[in-house]
Amino acid sequence: MNKQITLIVLYIIFSTLAPAASSKPVFSEKGMVVSTSRQASEAGIEILKKGGNAIDAAVTVGFALSVTSSSNGNLGGGGFLVATMIDGESFTIDHREKAPADAYRDLFLDDTGSVVPGMSLYSRAGSGVPGTVDGLIQALEDHGSGKISLREVLTPAIRLAEKGFNLSHYEARRFNTYESFFGRNEAAAEIFIRKDGKPWKKGDRFIQRDLAKTLKRIAKHGSGGFYSGPVAEMIVEEMKRGNGLITLEDLANYSSIYREPVTGVYKDYTIVSMGPPSSGGALLINMLNMLEHYPIDSLGWNSSDYVHILTEVERRAYADRAEHLGDPDFWNVPITMLTAKEYAKNRIRDINMDTATPSNLISASQAPAYESPETTHYSVVDQWGNAVSVTTTINLGYGGGHLVKGAGFFLNNEMDDFSSKPGVPNAFGLVGNKANAIEPGKRPLSSMTPTIVLKNGKPFIIIGSPGGSTIITTTMQVILNIIHHNMDIKEGVSSPRFHSQWLPDVIMTEPRGLSRDVIQNLELKGHTLVPYNGGYIGEANGILITEDGFYGGGDSRGETSAVGY
Ligand code: DON
Repeated sequence: MNKQITLIVLYIIFSTLAPAASSKPVFSEKGMVVSTSRQASEAGIEILKKGGNAIDAAVTVGFALSVTSSSNGNLGGGGFLVATMIDGESFTIDHREKAPADAYRDLFLDDTGSVVPGMSLYSRAGSGVPGTVDGLIQALEDHGSGKISLREVLTPAIRLAEKGFNLSHYEARRFNTYESFFGRNEAAAEIFIRKDGKPWKKGDRFIQRDLAKTLKRIAKHGSGGFYSGPVAEMIVEEMKRGNGLITLEDLANYSSIYREPVTGVYKDYTIVSMGPPSSGGALLINMLNMLEHYPIDSLGWNSSDYVHILTEVERRAYADRAEHLGDPDFWNVPITMLTAKEYAKNRIRDINMDTATPSNLISASQAPAYESPETTHYSVVDQWGNAVSVTTTINLGYGGGHLVKGAGFFLNNEMDDFSSKPGVPNAFGLVGNKANAIEPGKRPLSSMTPTIVLKNGKPFIIIGSPGGSTIITTTMQVILNIIHHNMDIKEGVSSPRFHSQWLPDVIMTEPRGLSRDVIQNLELKGHTLVPYNGGYIGEANGILITEDGFYGGGDSRGETSAVGY
């Protein structure tokens, strides 16, 4: 039953819109915001117009998304922010959720040592301590222009929550599809199911008064308005309605953390991305390092040889992910090894262009003994060239469905991103081991890959995507689409994708993603192809920066919005 729900949730996340024929990217010269929500993108642009920088705008977008995109852009979740600033500084802010202090390795196992189905996803114990509010405020305080106050970045969000906004056709449809899911939680039903019992429709005004109050508390008290006082108490009350673990102390102790970006060089480009506790940046760089040895230009976009080689590097990278990646505060992640050119060169030695390597013949490398359906992505650039790339999530759509009564937001079910038991897959089919076992205060391993690609030292592509385990391969394919296949940003993010992740040993495809003869050629090489169970893969929202200016491209898979000025 729970597995079924997960599949439905994933399906709904990625099946709302089929990729339409690509339209042109949005062009502007002074700034650009690309996100999943028109109101959020516009809110970001308003701040840029007031003279704010890309950080001010990104923080504004983040808070606005918590209102307009409640299935994912939520105060009850966490994320990663990657930025490159014109003064040459680049940094990341890890505001990933943390396991509560009472969490322990076998939290989701029964007495016989088996994983309790659905517990990490749908019980209150599936919620980690949220990080979004602390991360966004930290970014604003340390790297905002100083011209824009906390109240100003929260104003659009408060307005959108208090006065409401009109639902689009797709938003109304999504609420209707989730009706029975909302019905499982009284507070969620109160807000997300229409009072008259009728289905939502396009143009309905959607008001979230409790959420507005929470946002006002944050505007007044900063992080303290969320991590202590009434909101914190309401979160703890919500935990008590089930078997939730988050305490007032966990909330008071939460803090986001600056981490060095992971960087790599691919051809003429520098990749700046998110390191552990995300696996995204390390795998992206590792896979590009492997691909550097192949004539990607001449293989041709989505040809069978192209799909084959990407699949082969993906299975090797994801095998390492399962073994070596976890929260670096708890696990010695061999990041130098994983991002090294030499390592990639050795790792491809057994790749054969004619036949697939069965995944059971691939295992993770030995680490050296010593080593020094729902998420959303938004990209922002300002007139000075400061670039910000943020991916944020509460894991599945509307998290585990637990809305904090009185505070108006859903809590994440991010504890499912831990490895509940070695070898047992999570909602995204990912397996893990000790590196990603549950421990108190630890952050679950993520695939989120907010990335900035530099050309001649300056931001060239700002990119990232939702999509669980597919996020990393989506981000890579968009980068390859632009660098090798001469696509503009709109085509780059919207073109059909495929995905492979070591286990299960298959290539997942989108509807009409690969032609029949390409599929046949791949099968002849020994690959198994299956439709991606979420329908469409990810929702990449990116910006391409050229000498002319900024080109924004929202993924045609979603109701995305690129706004420039
Ligand atoms: O952090 C991760 O990798 C997952 N929790 C992301 C979930 C996700 O992308 C779901 N939505 N599309």
